[in-house]
Amino acid sequence: MPDGPMVGILGGGQLGRMLADAAKTLGVRTKVLDPDEHASAGRVTTHILGAYTSPKALAALAEGCDVVTYEFENVPVEAAERIAETLPVHPTPEALRVAQDRLNERKLFGELGIASPTSVAVDAEHRIESALSRVGEPALLKARRLGYDGKGQFLISGAHDIADAWRAIAGAPAILDAFVGFERELSVIGVRASNGNCRFYPLAQNVHRGGILRVTTAPAPNVPEALREQAESAARAIMERLDYVGVLAVEFFQIGSDGDARLVANEIAPRVHNTGHWTIEGAPASQFENHIRAVLGMDLGDTTPAKPSAMVNAIGELPEASRVSAVPGAVLHDYEKAPRPGRKVGHVTITADTPKELHERLERYTRVVG
Ligand SMILES: Nc1ncnc2c1ncn2[C@@H]1O[C@H](COP(=O)(O)OP(=O)(O)O)[C@@H](O)[C@H]1O
Ligand SMILES: [Mg+2]
Repeated sequence: MPDGPMVGILGGGQLGRMLADAAKTLGVRTKVLDPDEHASAGRVTTHILGAYTSPKALAALAEGCDVVTYEFENVPVEAAERIAETLPVHPTPEALRVAQDRLNERKLFGELGIASPTSVAVDAEHRIESALSRVGEPALLKARRLGYDGKGQFLISGAHDIADAWRAIAGAPAILDAFVGFERELSVIGVRASNGNCRFYPLAQNVHRGGILRVTTAPAPNVPEALREQAESAARAIMERLDYVGVLAVEFFQIGSDGDARLVANEIAPRVHNTGHWTIEGAPASQFENHIRAVLGMDLGDTTPAKPSAMVNAIGELPEASRVSAVPGAVLHDYEKAPRPGRKVGHVTITADTPKELHERLERYTRVVG
């Protein structure tokens, strides 16, 4: 029997690992490039240990692949571009370039008519005061590049915080974002096939603590049809503009409620996303499966949710497996990463037959596990 197709993945964290697991179920082989010898995906697939800037390592990744993708948006764009000289890279290196820089993301939103928080670019400490008077107080100073899990951000309550904020982000080029008093956070995960077909998972509701995602509930409860349309058309417009193939996540804030509810877009992720992990148990085709399908030019799988689901991140350390299994419908995913404060080391998905049952199970989970 001939070998199945092969997908190379830049980045070998838990996202690469879950991509590799999904690929296996489709008869697709994978390998990952990651500079960390303990990379999570290295436990389940071939791991090329090397730097993203090493031509030798990039060539070793590309060797024998049909397509290359990425699971980490801080891979240098040059790495993706270099591979794109000889192989298809999906999503395009251009998507990576946009998503690496908050200013580029916000410019793209503006060009596509997608509402986002009021923000001003700042590249010097003495410019923050006038920026603050434009966006209003409080405001969030966010480094344009390399932020994740709320890192590289500082809340400015008034002019007295400016020096601390600038120091906290190490004087990096930044945007100053109006602080949005949102009703809740929602995200949409879309996938675009090579023939331009798009599918969307239902909007997910996300609760962050300290800038880190804690709990996702999907489908998000009480989403007016207009909001779903707003989210999907934003994601579709972004994917079309970027000639995108693969999974894309867009994070939103919901402002106002019921009839007055509207969305403002915060950021995009050009990859599979933490707010879509629930799709492994909660949808017929997971975001990981659909990403692999898309980048290989296969037909997309069904994104209609099968069950109300919740996903709880394990941050710092894993919960005890016996406690997790005491909660009906709960499944533990262990990324096999060393415990460390603030680090995502696994997640638990809880599914149920009804939203009410899901709520009860989630409450029970919080009581039993914490
Ligand atoms: N303008 C804002 N107003 C209010 N809260 C915000 C704003 N920007 C970010 N946050 C909060 O911080 C979290 C992380 O910020 P985000 O911009 O998504 O960066 P990242 O996820 O890359 O760390 C958001 O999910 C949200 O909870
Ligand atoms: Mg975010």
